[in-house]
Amino acid sequence: MFFACILAAVIVLSQVNELVQISASVLAFDLSDIKNNITKLEVANIDMLHFDVMDGVFVPEITFGHHLIGALRQHTKLLFDTHLMVGNPSSLIEKFAEVGSNIITIHAESTVHLDREIRRIKDLGCKAGIALNPSTDHSAIRYLLEEIDLILVMTVNPGFCGQSFLRSQLEKIRSIRNMIDAANPNIILSVDGGITNETAHLAINAGASMLVSGSYLQKNIRVIEDAIAFLRAGK
Ligand code: DX5
Ligand code: ZN
Repeated sequence: MFFACILAAVIVLSQVNELVQISASVLAFDLSDIKNNITKLEVANIDMLHFDVMDGVFVPEITFGHHLIGALRQHTKLLFDTHLMVGNPSSLIEKFAEVGSNIITIHAESTVHLDREIRRIKDLGCKAGIALNPSTDHSAIRYLLEEIDLILVMTVNPGFCGQSFLRSQLEKIRSIRNMIDAANPNIILSVDGGITNETAHLAINAGASMLVSGSYLQKNIRVIEDAIAFLRAGK
């Protein structure tokens, strides 16, 4: 009986550890009421907040910068997962680290000095992520697997919330899962774009350990705890 209990506890704990993390994309919410929305997400046990920083150069839209993130840092203890969709990440990394980002993700397509920028992010005390556009091959990160903490596979073309999930990226997610398991299983495999109750299971089954979701969570803000649980369970 005693051993059966221990075994059950180990199984439960290992399942808890394997739970997919959910990062809520702040951009999809009403930005004029962002403090209240963050409180709702926090109460509903979201794992972290995803900040989509767009500069009008790397992608057509302009969103927000480090001042907004710094201001929100005072209002929540949630982890900040900052996704830089900018043409010149080098000039901005320090600012986003200083205002309290916990993870800073830059695009492989945005710099020819990816290795150097990843090291800078880590030297500033943040976790470092690399994002891949849908057309970018995963070989771009092959020689960085020992240094990075997160890979962000874009399942939409970056620039807008509310787009449809690109199923063409599932093969890439599976390939990256194999690379991670072989080289550095601690890397978080995050999938961003078009994540809903209809697509979460596709990303999870392909190997995602984290899902970024904006529109789906925003539309379900009244039942946010259930919506987060559905995504985690891949339902
Ligand atoms: C796209 C952004 C995504 C987006 C997610 O450029 O990087 O994080 O906000 O929003 P949904 O879940 O609506 O696709
Ligand atoms: Zn994003």
